[in-house]
Amino acid sequence: MKRKEFLKTFGWLIALPYLLFAGLMVRKHRQVSSARIIRLKTPNADGIYFYDDVIMIQKDQKLKLFSSKCTHLGCRINKIENGQLVCPCHGSSFGENGEVISGPATTALTELTYKFDPEKKELITEV
Ligand code: FES
Repeated sequence: MKRKEFLKTFGWLIALPYLLFAGLMVRKHRQVSSARIIRLKTPNADGIYFYDDVIMIQKDQKLKLFSSKCTHLGCRINKIENGQLVCPCHGSSFGENGEVISGPATTALTELTYKFDPEKKELITEV
């Protein structure tokens, strides 16, 4: 078999691992870069505040941010009942620290880290 025929026949087999690796890198990059940065005004008073993707809880001048995505199947948590965060889809409820109070969810809400921009008095977080 001549060199040209060999490359034509087995070239894809040689290139395949490199193509798979390149594909995985592109996919990983897309996952990393899909995070969105969100800026939120700091609240003036204690309370629970709902935004599209974030739940902000301020109590005794301590502030926590959680993803509003329910850990059961991903519905957006957007209401409070009896002081608990309640998912509208299947009724899971969560406490002020994101802990599960009742299922079907079994995992606490994802707490988000944030930075404070003192100039604009905004919180900056990523979801
Ligand atoms: S998606 Fe929230 S309880 Fe099912």
